[in-house]
Amino acid sequence: MKAVYTFIDLEDWESVIAELPQRPILAVIGDPVAHSKSPQMHNPALAAAGIDGCYIRLHLRKDEVAVALPRMAKLGFQGVNVTIPHKLAALRAATEVGPLPRMMGAVNTLCFEGETIHGWNTDGPGFVRAVEEAFGTAVSGLRVAIIGAGGGAGRAVAVQCASEGCPRLVLVNRTLAKVEALREEMIGLLTGVQDLRTCAWQAATMATELAEVDLIVNATSLGMKPDDAPVVPGDLLTSDHLVYDMVYSGGQTRFLADAATAGARGADGQAMLLHQGAIAFEHWFQAAAPIEAMRAGLLGSDAGGKRI
Ligand SMILES: NC(=O)c1ccc[n+]([C@@H]2O[C@H](COP(=O)([O-])OP(=O)(O)OC[C@H]3O[C@@H](n4cnc5c(N)ncnc54)[C@H](OP(=O)(O)O)[C@@H]3O)[C@@H](O)[C@H]2O)c1
Repeated sequence: MKAVYTFIDLEDWESVIAELPQRPILAVIGDPVAHSKSPQMHNPALAAAGIDGCYIRLHLRKDEVAVALPRMAKLGFQGVNVTIPHKLAALRAATEVGPLPRMMGAVNTLCFEGETIHGWNTDGPGFVRAVEEAFGTAVSGLRVAIIGAGGGAGRAVAVQCASEGCPRLVLVNRTLAKVEALREEMIGLLTGVQDLRTCAWQAATMATELAEVDLIVNATSLGMKPDDAPVVPGDLLTSDHLVYDMVYSGGQTRFLADAATAGARGADGQAMLLHQGAIAFEHWFQAAAPIEAMRAGLLGSDAGGKRI
């Protein structure tokens, strides 16, 4: 199997896949896509579930997505995962989408059924399961601050938290206008959150807001490089906080190191990756995902080898 297939490969697909022991039935599409860990998670899942088929990476450029998706359906693919930068294109390509993915502005899972393309966003529900697994508590009962709520993943998590009915939701972003616009949209469509606030990514304003939340989520890309600025100043974290870092670096991020110093419980983004994948599997096959096979597959691809 090639590490990455391309749009050109789809034009002569039967020859390209002729030597494969199993036919590709699922793929992750993105640009770039070579880094994706999804095959390590989904190929063990297919094997554990006894499903005949394999999962591949497919590199698609922006202008190729709309043509590639219906072609893939005709070539026998059951569905795809979608990564950056194609989640909005996937939302547009889907013919059946619920209100939450629409408000999230992104679809990361598609399922082909005849001419119909079903679309879901499993990042939000995956986040909910990951937090429950990490901290043993339901997101719905927590006051939550999302740092980077104006980004793609942050927006999905914010909409999910609102739909779960979190009693307080603080949308923090470097570009404040993005979360102010999101708050207006959410007020119109989601009535579950009693207290929906916005906050600039500045120490003084965050100090007030973070003192009144239970869970702080990093949905920025900060923390992947050692010289990144702190997600929040370390002295704003306390032992009462739960800290969820959506970054999945395989090692401890600065945000989680600061949380540990403050005595706060923390978890990184690998469990969210696992659970968003498990929920995608459930959509494709209408069956429970073999979660431990998926977890073991991800662990095998993670040099850190720690439990997720
Ligand atoms: N664990 C998982 O399963 C999972 C799933 C999806 C994403 N993620 C992770 O989530 C992170 C965000 O991904 P994304 O797709 O949402 O990215 P994105 O759409 O590019 O959003 C990035 C966010 O980070 C903020 N940001 C970027 N650089 C910053 C800086 N130097 N200082 C302050 N804020 C900064 C942006 O603020 P502005 O709006 O001001 O630009 C924006 O809110 C990535 O690390 C990604 O790997 C994890």
